[in-house]
Amino acid sequence: MPISLASTVKLNTGAEIPVVGLGTWKSAPGRVEEAVEYALKKAGYRHIDTATDYGNEKEVGEGIKASGVPRESIFVTTKLKNDDHDKVEQALEYSLKQLDTPYIDLWLLHWPAPMLSPTGDGKPNRDLDWLDTWKELERVHLANKNKVRAIGVSNLSVPFLKRLLKEAKVIPAVNQIELHPSLPQKEVVKVTEEAGILLTSYSPLGSDESPLLTDEVIVKIAKKYNVEPAAILVSFQVAHPNRTVLPKSVTPSRISANAQIVELTPEEFAEIDKIGESKIFRVCNPTWAGWGDLGFDLSKEKESE
Ligand code: A2P
Repeated sequence: MPISLASTVKLNTGAEIPVVGLGTWKSAPGRVEEAVEYALKKAGYRHIDTATDYGNEKEVGEGIKASGVPRESIFVTTKLKNDDHDKVEQALEYSLKQLDTPYIDLWLLHWPAPMLSPTGDGKPNRDLDWLDTWKELERVHLANKNKVRAIGVSNLSVPFLKRLLKEAKVIPAVNQIELHPSLPQKEVVKVTEEAGILLTSYSPLGSDESPLLTDEVIVKIAKKYNVEPAAILVSFQVAHPNRTVLPKSVTPSRISANAQIVELTPEEFAEIDKIGESKIFRVCNPTWAGWGDLGFDLSKEKESE
């Protein structure tokens, strides 16, 4: 069966998650409500991803309401912000209130990087250990399954995942990481999948002004199927079994175009896969933000600079 917006995969909790969701990182308040409404009402999306740190949960919630699609038909993910590691339970209540929803389908630890709060002055909080935050997420989830149906992580590298797996009582349902042809992160993928954790790709198009959208291989394949290059990048992610993907757009025509999933041939898949052997870039590099070493292998990126 070809993948469509109706396709779902199972989380390790048993719940179904739609394979394609709308990403909202950098979707500004003022644009995101309309984008969410359009995605749900007109384009047929049933999965919306947001985060407290994006500052748009309230508008995402308003878009969900405006769509008229019943809440139970929509999968909603949000994330615990870096400067909320010391107040997990309050952060959950905040997200529920902002989204104006009785429950979140999936709640992720956004980064394993506790930051100083309340000023959020961009410095790591050395007194906190992100693994304690995960344990608190577990506690809050187990005590409030009616409010948080599943918990997971985001931006976990191999060493961080291994550390978590040694102590976790709840295996994360998801590891949401940056994945596109220029950042295949194959080791992280392997360790995540071996642990029974579902991968979700963020920035699957390579984010703003992505060189992937004009890459000759991508453009050639897009022409063959008569779809936009972005749809090929989304199709490439979902051609990996058991992976969900979050193309972001605030532009209605693109929101629809990105959902035109095609079935790539094995040769096309291999051709796209090869892009990452020579053209490597990372949209979200935590070391730029001064958050310290989060365990990602940045050596290949240095080679291609
Ligand atoms: P916009 O939101 O203004 O439509 P990613 O999903 O990798 O984070 O990429 C998001 C970026 O790609 C945004 O700048 C978004 O712009 C742009 N984008 C989304 N869909 C398309 C498309 N079909 N064609 C070109 N650019 C797109």
